[in-house]
Parts: sequence; structure tokens; C-alpha cells
Amino acid sequence: MAYSEAQVVVGGLGHVPVIIGAAWMIQSFIKARTGPSGVATSTKAAVSGNTVAQPLSEVTTPSSAQTTSGAQNQQAKKAHQAVPVNLFKPKTPFIGTVVENYSLLKEGAIGRVNHITFNLSGADPQFNYFEGQSIGIIPAGEDSNGKPHKLRLYSIASTRHGDNFEGNTVSLCVRQLQYEKDGQTIDGVCSTYLCDIAPGDKIKITGPVGKEMLLPEEEDSNVIMLATGTGIAPMRAYLRRMFENTERKLNSWNFKGKAWLFMGAPKTANLLYDSDFEWYRSQFPDNFRYTKAISREQNNVKGGRMYIQDRVLENADELFALIENPKTHIYLCGLKGMEPGIDEAMTTAAASKGIDWSELRPKLKKAGRWHVETY
Ligand code: FAD
Ligand code: A2P
Repeated sequence: MAYSEAQVVVGGLGHVPVIIGAAWMIQSFIKARTGPSGVATSTKAAVSGNTVAQPLSEVTTPSSAQTTSGAQNQQAKKAHQAVPVNLFKPKTPFIGTVVENYSLLKEGAIGRVNHITFNLSGADPQFNYFEGQSIGIIPAGEDSNGKPHKLRLYSIASTRHGDNFEGNTVSLCVRQLQYEKDGQTIDGVCSTYLCDIAPGDKIKITGPVGKEMLLPEEEDSNVIMLATGTGIAPMRAYLRRMFENTERKLNSWNFKGKAWLFMGAPKTANLLYDSDFEWYRSQFPDNFRYTKAISREQNNVKGGRMYIQDRVLENADELFALIENPKTHIYLCGLKGMEPGIDEAMTTAAASKGIDWSELRPKLKKAGRWHVETY
């Protein structure tokens, strides 16, 4: 956690000079594109800027990859300047109000995972964010040294319009951290605070931060999503943006590509937002594929727990056919521990197509098509 968190925070700090120099530009940009509620009013405003698109044939050729991705990175960098970052910092957090806090789990599920929504009304500047960003939460109370708790980062699970479509809320999907130490159950500080917080309570919020997980601009882009547990948070925002009718109207952004979600959960009862995704699948069968890996109910071919990397292997041909398309982006979010497994599966899957994954992955990354946020 600390490493990833530091990465994101340092990434955010790296933008401080830009923010100071161009804060007014960013705010004017956002204001110019949002109505009084903060709802985006134009398609271009609604996009985040990972506009990079590069054919696999080019990506696999080192010289052309360098030239093409150089120009594309410039393009992406420009678009990224429009993304709000660090509007509220740890010393001056925004004080939001809890709107709702409910369990996402069904009877028989393992652990505790909640959907929590905060009201952002009254923020000055307006608390805007884009799909794929995170916010910081500073839990109430003090640590064992009597110092205020440090912030923890959480991926935003709502679109910029919020669950109520009014542009004044942000939602999270939080798993309570619990582990055993010396025979005692230890509760994570911030995740427990968040799971216990009640409507009406006040909460310190910082951010938004992060530009790693932004969606591509093109309506005909393809989006492959690999999520475990709460790693579904940004994906939920993407899928709402793509397939919720009200979102489509608000954004004037009509996703026409293919979205493919690989979701890993321990039990069926632990699947998060499953009925929403099933609804999208029924409404957009040509655009949305939803593949589940239920680790403690299904087995992989070796008889072990079914993980999303096993599903990747099962679907290697179709996945790599999609990756061939220059408009395909891959997003990975959730447990840090899944990264080696995904890498191994991609290596095997790529090899079956005569592709060297260890060469291709950094090129996809450089081209802005490989997005990872694990913790
Ligand atoms: P803490 O009280 O801070 O405890 C964590 C510490 O406990 C660890 O650093 C470690 O020292 C110790 N620990 C943890 N497990 C064990 C163990 N098994 N044995 C011994 N010691 C252990 N979380 C979500 O729920 N949803 C999200 O959407 C989400 N998004 C994130 C996005 C980013 C970019 C990052 C960096 C993290 C994200 N997290 C998310 C994780 C979140 O930031 C916190 O790390 C998590 O909620 C735990 O915080 P805590 O305060 O409850 O735990
Ligand atoms: P399991 O815990 O059965 O080993 P949650 O956050 O709700 O626990 O869900 C995380 C999901 O990711 C679970 O199904 C978990 O399986 C699975 N998982 C655990 N480790 C890995 C890994 N290394 N690679 C992929 N998935 C994993």
C-alpha cells in the first residue's frame, strides 16, 4: 500500500508546479465545460485524454514505436493538463458529508465491502474529478504516536456526474482490511472508519489524484478490464459512463467499442455491482462482455482456484485479436499480488500468437495503452 500510495502522491506532487502555474487555466477549463452542478456539457470535456492509439505491428517495431509513441505521448500530455489534480491537499482537505453507506455483498459473502457516497457540494474550488482518478480520505482520530492519521487513497467508483447524475457527489467501493496478528484480529484504520461511517457524518477528503487510469477519448476504443475485488471501482465508473442511459445523454459520448470485464471474486456472493453489469450485458450484448472468475467456487484447468489470469488464458486468441487493434486499452486494478499471475498468463497467451510479451508490454505502456493501479 505504502509504495503505491507514495507513487500516486509523488506523481501528484510532481504536478505541483504545473498546478500553481496553471491552476486558473484548469479551473476555467472545467468551469467552461460544466454547468452549475458541475455536469459536463460537451463531449470533448467529458474525455480524459489517453488518446494514444498504435497498431500492434507498429508497437512491436522498436524504431517506429519510439517515433509514434513520442508524438502520441505529447498529445496525451496536453489532454492530461485538463484533468483536475490535487484540488484539495492534506493540510486543507474538503469536508464532505456522507450521503449513503451500504454493503455490496450478498448473504454468505466473505468480509465486508461497502459502497459509500459523499456530498461534495460547496467545495471551493469545485471538487471535479474524472473516471479513473482516486481521492484521499483522512480518517478521524490519531495514530499510536498521537499524530493525526495519514490519508489513504481510494479509487473513485462513480463517474464525474456521481451516482445521482447531479455532479455533486463521489462514491467509493471499500473493503474493510482485517488480518490476524498474535491471535488477535486487527482492523485497518481507514477502511474500518469508512465502513462504519454513517449518513450525515463529516469526512476529510483530498484530491483528486492520478492520471494512470483515465479512459481513452475515442468512442470506438476497446477497453479490456482486469479487476480483483475492490479493483472494480474504476471499472464501475467506466461502465456507467459507457452504458448507463443518463450518462450517455449527459456526456454525448456514445461508446461504440468493445468493453470486456474480467472480474475476480472469492464467491458469487462477493461479486460487486454484478446485477448492474448483467443489465449492461443484456442491453449491449455486442459491446459488453463480462467474464467472472469465482476463485472459491470454480477451478482452473489445473484444479486450483479460478483467477482472472486463468480466464485470460482461456480467452487468449480473442484477447490478442483485440490487442492488435490500435484502439484497445488494458486496465488492471486491485490486488498487487495478481500482477505476476497476469504477466505470466499474458506471456503464455502472447507466445501462442508468436508474440514476446516482455517486449510488447513496455511498448503498450509507453503507448499509453497499458494501465495498472494495484495496491
Ligand atoms: P491500515 O490501518 O493502514 O493497515 C494497513 C497496514 O496493515 C499495512 O500497511 C500493513 O503494515 C498491515 N497489514 C495489512 N495486512 C496485513 C497482514 N495480512 N498481516 C500483517 N500486517 C498486515 N482500498 C479499497 O478498499 N478500495 C479501493 O478502491 C482502493 N483504492 C486504492 C487506490 C490506490 C491508488 C491505493 C494506493 C490504494 C487503494 N486502496 C483501496 C487501499 C487503501 O488505500 C488502504 O490501503 C486500505 O483501505 C487499508 O487501509 P487501512 O487504513 O484500513 O489499513
Ligand atoms: P482468493 O482469495 O480465493 O485466493 P476480494 O478482494 O473480494 O477478496 O477478491 C479478490 C479476489 O482475487 C479473490 O477471488 C481472490 O482469490 C483473488 N486473488 C487472490 N490472489 C490472487 C492473485 N495472485 N491473482 C489473481 N487473483 C487473486
